[in-house]
Amino acid sequence: MQGARILATGSAVPELCVNNFKISEMVETSDDWIVTRTGIKERRVLTGIDKSVVDLACLASIKALDKVSMSPLDIDLIILATSSPNDLFGSASQVQAQIGANKAVAFDLTAACSGFVLAVVTAAQFIENGSYKNVLVIGADVLSKWTNWLDRSTCILFGDGAGAVIIQACSKDDNGILGFQLNTDGEKSDQLSIPYRNKAKNKTISICQGEFDFIQMNGREVYKFAVSKVPLSIFKCLQSLCISTEDVSWLLLHQANERIIHAVAERLSIHSSKLISNLHKYGNTSAASIPLALDEALSSNKIKYNDLIVISGFGAGLTWGTVVIQWKC
Ligand code: COA
Repeated sequence: MQGARILATGSAVPELCVNNFKISEMVETSDDWIVTRTGIKERRVLTGIDKSVVDLACLASIKALDKVSMSPLDIDLIILATSSPNDLFGSASQVQAQIGANKAVAFDLTAACSGFVLAVVTAAQFIENGSYKNVLVIGADVLSKWTNWLDRSTCILFGDGAGAVIIQACSKDDNGILGFQLNTDGEKSDQLSIPYRNKAKNKTISICQGEFDFIQMNGREVYKFAVSKVPLSIFKCLQSLCISTEDVSWLLLHQANERIIHAVAERLSIHSSKLISNLHKYGNTSAASIPLALDEALSSNKIKYNDLIVISGFGAGLTWGTVVIQWKC
């Protein structure tokens, strides 16, 4: 068994910025309502008929590779956490081809807003058991394509983006991925989903075919789920590592809602000065939100060597989980 640590990060967002005032031209809402209930002021939206999650994922990946002057040919594995691929068979292989990581195995991981946490944990297993040395983990989503822009209860929340991290094998002493705690509650999968709806039935062989719907969400229930389950996951994970909440340097939660972020921190008695948040600029970018915020926090030199970062994702599935990282670069 060997250690694994995050070597570099990169991120990308589309150019088009849609603020709350623009949204209020589309649905009956206001900047004040959105900011008060969510903390979101604006979000980025991908435009262009030929643009997809792959473009954002590639850009974020190239930025991460460039930071450490690593050739894409040195990547052994690519895990693309996304719930908005441009191909139902998966988009990771397109990323592999476009960035020229020709030696890498590539696959998609679908776990909505928990996708990045699950992908980091998966990458760490491959590294710790000695299978791979360099893994590119990408969290990328373009939920604007699955948002009903006439539904004010959901269209105010989501935005598009991508974040990438390179995770590398290292000595046990330099191990940066200290532990994790993961959960799923499939009984509540209908509380947040992009359901597939069967429509016409083929008369000859009785096959039903249909299409995916827009995002469906029970906002109140998802809110309650997040503020009750996420602190427990963090607490269990820290306890398994014998780390006290006082020793946590940074709390980086999935960027869904400012009120959720503060409520979770309060339940853990973690001071708000330790919160990493950029939600006001990007909204909920699903699997991208954590690596996007991580990349920004690193760029502004917030995170220092040996800092303990508690990262939690939560969302559709329902899935939620925590990974505790010690910064080792
Ligand atoms: N603008 C103005 N009013 C709105 C609105 C909007 N964008 N969306 C809903 N409303 C109205 C509702 O119609 C309702 O009106 P009524 O009382 O006359 O029926 C009222 O505001 C309250 O609606 P409610 O849904 O109870 O609001 P809320 O306080 O729960 O806030 C969310 C709504 C979506 C902001 C909140 O539930 C939330 O953030 N949930 C978590 C969602 C999330 O993070 N999902 C992703 C997880 S990965």
